[in-house]
Amino acid sequence: MQWTGLNELREKYLAFFQSKDHLRLPSFSLIPQGDNSLLLIGAGMAPMKKYFTGEAEPPRRRVTTCQKCIRTPDIDSVGITDRHGTFFEMLGNFSFGDYFKREAISWAWEFFTRVLEMPEEKLYVTVFETDNEAWDIWTKEIGVPESHMKRMGKEDNFWEHGSGPCGPCSEIYFDRGEEHGCGKPDCGVGCECDRYVEIWNLVFSQFNSDGEGHYEDLAQKNIDTGMGLERLACVMQGVDNLFLVDTVQNIMKRMSEISGVAYGQGAKSDISLRVITDHIRSTVFMIGDGVLPSNEGRGYVLRRLLRRAARHGKLLGVNGLFLAELADTVIQENEKAYPELREKRETIRKIIGFEEESFLKTIDQGLALLNSFIDKADSKVFSGEHAFTLNDTYGFPLDLTREILAERGMDVDEDRFRELMKEQKERARSARKDAGADAWKGEGTAAAGLAATEFTGYSELETQAEVIAIIQGGQRVESAGEGAEVSVVLSQTPFYGESGGQVGDSGEIVAQGLSMDVVDTTRHQGVFLHRAVVTQGALAAGDKVTARVDEKRRAAIMRNHTAAHLLQAALRKVLGGHVEQAGQLVNEKEVRFDFTHFSAMTPEELAAVEILVNEEILKAVPVEVKEMPIEEARKSGAMALFGEKYGDVVRVASVTDGFSREFCGGTHMDNTAKLGLFKIVSESSVASGVRRIEAVTGSGVLGMLTAQSVTLLETARALKTPNPAELPIRAKQLMGEMKEKDKQIEALNQQVAKANLQGVFQNAQEVAGIKVVFALLSGTAPDALRALCDKAKEYEEPLAAVFAGIAGGKASLAAACNKAAQEKGLKAGQLVKEVAMLTGGNGGGRPDFAMAGAKDQTKLDEALAAVPELVKKQLG
Ligand code: ALA
Repeated sequence: MQWTGLNELREKYLAFFQSKDHLRLPSFSLIPQGDNSLLLIGAGMAPMKKYFTGEAEPPRRRVTTCQKCIRTPDIDSVGITDRHGTFFEMLGNFSFGDYFKREAISWAWEFFTRVLEMPEEKLYVTVFETDNEAWDIWTKEIGVPESHMKRMGKEDNFWEHGSGPCGPCSEIYFDRGEEHGCGKPDCGVGCECDRYVEIWNLVFSQFNSDGEGHYEDLAQKNIDTGMGLERLACVMQGVDNLFLVDTVQNIMKRMSEISGVAYGQGAKSDISLRVITDHIRSTVFMIGDGVLPSNEGRGYVLRRLLRRAARHGKLLGVNGLFLAELADTVIQENEKAYPELREKRETIRKIIGFEEESFLKTIDQGLALLNSFIDKADSKVFSGEHAFTLNDTYGFPLDLTREILAERGMDVDEDRFRELMKEQKERARSARKDAGADAWKGEGTAAAGLAATEFTGYSELETQAEVIAIIQGGQRVESAGEGAEVSVVLSQTPFYGESGGQVGDSGEIVAQGLSMDVVDTTRHQGVFLHRAVVTQGALAAGDKVTARVDEKRRAAIMRNHTAAHLLQAALRKVLGGHVEQAGQLVNEKEVRFDFTHFSAMTPEELAAVEILVNEEILKAVPVEVKEMPIEEARKSGAMALFGEKYGDVVRVASVTDGFSREFCGGTHMDNTAKLGLFKIVSESSVASGVRRIEAVTGSGVLGMLTAQSVTLLETARALKTPNPAELPIRAKQLMGEMKEKDKQIEALNQQVAKANLQGVFQNAQEVAGIKVVFALLSGTAPDALRALCDKAKEYEEPLAAVFAGIAGGKASLAAACNKAAQEKGLKAGQLVKEVAMLTGGNGGGRPDFAMAGAKDQTKLDEALAAVPELVKKQLG
């Protein structure tokens, strides 16, 4: 058995199973695809569940992979022990209804004993307690002595992970030798100590679990094996723990270089080095797969890992940013097996740097506050209010507060914390609801239980309908008269009810003798509510009416909605596949599109996006909106909103040349040409990692152009330039003139200061060998006083000067003491303060120069006259 590097071990394993007819697939993304039951991939089999159940056809019945995995349940133990980590690679060979126990067992044995040349006597095997078949294969066919075999219960030898394929398993252990053992007489496989390490798990995957204790036989018998690559490397490299494995150790060494703290110098710094080493691995791989820091789901996991690593960097005494630099080492160590890391290096570095920087900005303030809270705490339980403040104002996630407190042996009142978070959410929600919707308050509750409204507005803008219900002031009513503000429910409607970021339609509802203005349309559980004002006649339940959408407004909304799709596609082309919609507002005026991206867009990027969208418009491409089964929609490559739940049948909006295809319930123009033109108005930041583009289309562009030319014309008029085209030249010229004038003013000020000084000096008095100068200079601003003081300080003989100036109705005082005067014990700060106090004002400053505000201007003369006295007093 020879020392083997981690990268080489991976290769040996995959090549071995290739030689056994397995198809070698690259690692799947850490982000589960089409599987909402998992946040992150945590096992080699997880991305292939459907091949096990037979729901999908695998590319071959034998597959082998090395899968990137993240497991976070033990995150709090990472660093504290040298065993836990959040990121690891899992080697696996899989059979989808092909080979079963016999082959899986004999190949595992062959790989260990022939390829890696592990001594047979070091290997131990466990099987599920009732699995005689596996027992016999191991003992009779392979020849493992019974002394190296053990039967174990469901706890240890039945593998399942949430819902999905599962089954009894057989595990192979490696005996690291007596010196690693606990020495207890019953020490053996399964003992908690470090002697016997489990390295390979062979799962005979034959059931499908619903995650709640129900197991169904799978139609086919499968093999799912999993071996932690780092764990295998520990054994092959004869090291005690994950952090000493070659590639991982290189990351830790780099961290030691950056921090100047070597591993093994102390328990505390070792914890920090391990936390950082583990977390930088997870985060680099997560970002490489397109996860972005956020406050939810896997984005939150990423944020938490990054912040934890950043904080431990501080604990090691690193000042400033270091994680992006460390990320480079992770990329170097892994790029051969994971080329995507090299490709995305810039993105990874940027996202990490950005998150680290924004965290560091608040962490100091937050830590100071946390410490002061801790100092003041009179019990071991930290208050929920404080934890909430830290979270709300300083972005300290509860986990971090909890972790820091745990280091001091304290707990947090988490119940109170959660209560406050809930209250805050409710406040925000009701603030949003109340805004501007008073008249229609309670309409949703009143509409509960009504049948869903049929929406006709994809194909027509005018529909005949019956009034199903009228809601006024949150109550169902039978009728409503002129002037009433009501929510109307119709049997069917062409009015789009606000959803998916597209605003609700407006228009009118009319009948013989009746007319109503619909100002907005909302949706509550499929019931469309027309918020309307009766302008003429009266409305009663059961009335037959015509519902007519404001066509012009709707067209403008549709233009902006189609533009949002073109914009998203263009952003992904220009910025990369990490761009995803994070929110949008589409109304008649603009499209406001929020998306995931980590830095401000450059003018070039914005221009490129604008050009791409406009090219699509000028090509006049038909836009098709079709309903289809969700599977078909996914297969067609349509983009779905991340985390959104869809029904079995979905609508897909496609720009038919393939430029964009998205799941969408909104309404669209049927041809890109109808957008007219697309213009970006602004690009800004919404939250960390989320940017916002505001843009206009069609007449919105025209409106913007008109507004701009009016501004230009008005500016031209104000600057007395008849031709707006000459404005830039005129502006430059004016700026130049202004600069020139500033210079002249400066020069004049200096001349005035000099002249004043000469005058003032003639009145100088001598106090104990110090020249004392003071003067009241009306019309002199603080800046000029300062210039005077500067001049005074140049004087060689000991000199103290106090000047008062009045400008813009305000009086200020300035005092200067040159070096020689300071040596005699005079201080400008003290002097100006005492003078100011004589006027009821206050101030102070440095010994050489200080300023103060005077209050009562009538006392200025008197106060200045006291200067020689005050100087005398200071000299004592
Ligand atoms: N799926 C099995 C595991 O993760 C092999 O241990």
